[in-house]
Amino acid sequence: MTHVVLEKPEQRAQVLALNRLAFDGEEEARIIEALTRDDLVVLSLVVTEGEKVTGHILFSRLEVEVDGRPVKAVALAPMAVLPDHQNKGIGSTLIRRGLDLVTARGFEAVLVVGHTAFYPRFGFSAEAVRHIACPFQGHEAFMGLELKPDTLAGESGACRYPAAFTL
Ligand SMILES: CC(C)(COP(=O)(O)OP(=O)(O)OC[C@H]1O[C@@H](n2cnc3c(N)ncnc32)[C@H](O)[C@@H]1OP(=O)(O)O)[C@@H](O)C(=O)NCCC(=O)NCCS
Repeated sequence: MTHVVLEKPEQRAQVLALNRLAFDGEEEARIIEALTRDDLVVLSLVVTEGEKVTGHILFSRLEVEVDGRPVKAVALAPMAVLPDHQNKGIGSTLIRRGLDLVTARGFEAVLVVGHTAFYPRFGFSAEAVRHIACPFQGHEAFMGLELKPDTLAGESGACRYPAAFTL
């Protein structure tokens, strides 16, 4: 059974190593460290098998406004599953649990830049964020999900990704 828990400080080294492995690079590990340093992490979940961390997902605070109205939003990024544990449902479990928890904490919307064949199955769509100005605007990979109905609906909007994602 997939065991999903809040990331503990002593699991951080494994989380960073897992992200380096899954993404074959340093970028996501650097983002995780920067988001943590800047106190922007809302939720960090891991899947464990015994002591081993096999999957990870992170949600962080994100500035979004639609028609001049602030939206209580989070970014979903990064998420990763150990290469030899992929395609077993770990990633889907992490997303579903993560969405439940950020909803329970009162967040209204989630934005992601990710696989267009994967996130729509959880309700994400490019359509939901087409009017939101940001460096990814217009890309099919830039998708949003309303946790509370109509919170992203409007004529125009903007989203400001923190420095952690751009430096
Ligand atoms: C994407 C990822 C987190 C999915 O985790 P997972 O545990 O393998 O996912 P699940 O087993 O729940 O779901 C598997 C589904 O995801 C799909 N999927 C996996 N990687 C994908 C990709 N790069 N593009 C599109 N779909 C992908 C699989 O095709 C599979 O689809 P199916 O159910 O129709 O067969 C994992 O593959 C991973 O860590 N990839 C490398 C890092 C990465 O790309 N992270 C996400 C950045 S947006």
